[in-house]
Amino acid sequence: MTGKGKISRKKFFRYFLYLLGLPLMFSWKKLVESHSDIYGMKRQMILPGNLPNGITIQDELLIRKDENNLAIFSSRCTHLGCQINKYDADGFVCPCHGSRFSFNGDVEDGPAYKPLNRLEYTIDPKTNNIFVKLNG
Ligand code: FES
Repeated sequence: MTGKGKISRKKFFRYFLYLLGLPLMFSWKKLVESHSDIYGMKRQMILPGNLPNGITIQDELLIRKDENNLAIFSSRCTHLGCQINKYDADGFVCPCHGSRFSFNGDVEDGPAYKPLNRLEYTIDPKTNNIFVKLNG
């Protein structure tokens, strides 16, 4: 039994644990968010809105842009996963086994038989920055 204005020891420890729990929950959330890139949970890449027209190869991305269209592909070859890092007048070329892909991502020459993985993106209307979803 407690007197008026007093708090029991049990309640005190309960409140103390609640107060201790809040920072732990916040820390846990931050920890999960900071590692989400590693586990591929919500990976994205931000590109500047002023990309030049033509073909750009940047990190994991193959980018084709003209006045009206933007297409972004994963640079992972659909044959065995090598990183495509070059192109010629006809399209993208995989350095490992020579698969060729058109600038639309379609297979032009094997051994790959699946088209390049086209990536979804959104454009921030304020900054024109391009947010590319790297998985899924
Ligand atoms: Fe690209 Fe084999 S990994 S052609």
